[in-house]
Amino acid sequence: MSTEYSDLICVLTGAGISAESGIETFRGAGGLWNGHDVMEVASPEGFAKDPALVIDFYNQRRKQLAEVEPNAGHYALVKLQEYFNVIVVTQNVDDLHERAGSNQVLHLHGELRKVKSVLDPSYVKDIEYGEIQIGDTCPKGGQLRPDVVWFGEPVPAFDVANKIAEECAAFIVVGTSLAVYPAASLMYFAPNDIPQFLVDPNPAMDHVRQLRNMKVYKENASTGLPKLVDELIGKYT
Ligand code: APR
Repeated sequence: MSTEYSDLICVLTGAGISAESGIETFRGAGGLWNGHDVMEVASPEGFAKDPALVIDFYNQRRKQLAEVEPNAGHYALVKLQEYFNVIVVTQNVDDLHERAGSNQVLHLHGELRKVKSVLDPSYVKDIEYGEIQIGDTCPKGGQLRPDVVWFGEPVPAFDVANKIAEECAAFIVVGTSLAVYPAASLMYFAPNDIPQFLVDPNPAMDHVRQLRNMKVYKENASTGLPKLVDELIGKYT
């Protein structure tokens, strides 16, 4: 990924950008994620307690991912990269940015399509939209698990994300409650005089109040992002 250009736009996305593709957000329906407490299916403790349930949960998420499509919000970011150096830093584990055509995507919280070994950190495999089961192991015998970042686990990609934020000339936030750190702190690493934008029907106003340059589009990604992208193209190119 290149951060050499002054036309770098950093875009932080969250579950909201994929909501209109049919993927449920995390803190939507009564705090449950597809019927489960997030700690049950997205924490090392939950995995230790019931590995079969967690593995099956992500098998279902992968199967669902194969059945959904990117929406106008994802495609607006693809249009933006025709005019600027756009890096999408996503908290999402889905691959809808890539499938829409975004060519610089950094996954802060891992990728649903990938599995890794609990024993050998170097063993990571893209299983696309397939399944794993208890007993599926790496060559060294370690159980395979989803290659996603669970609560309490480190976020190794954050250092790179941090650099991108520091170098960018504009910052866009889309569809995230900004409740989970360190992702929610990313825009604070950007230069404080650059334009910032937030597209979300229920914007995280605590952050907006602290980021005085932030312009809020209080609407869905599929309508708000195309509007914002056309404004940026019209104003800066
Ligand atoms: N368009 C844009 N934003 C939307 C839409 C939409 N159509 N629908 C909902 N939203 C917004 C909500 O208003 C909310 O602010 O998307 C946000 C979703 O917030 P969360 O469910 O908390 O998702 P996110 O912020 O991505 O969660 C962060 O938490 O569970 C962990 O690791 C997981 O990456 C995830 C992280």
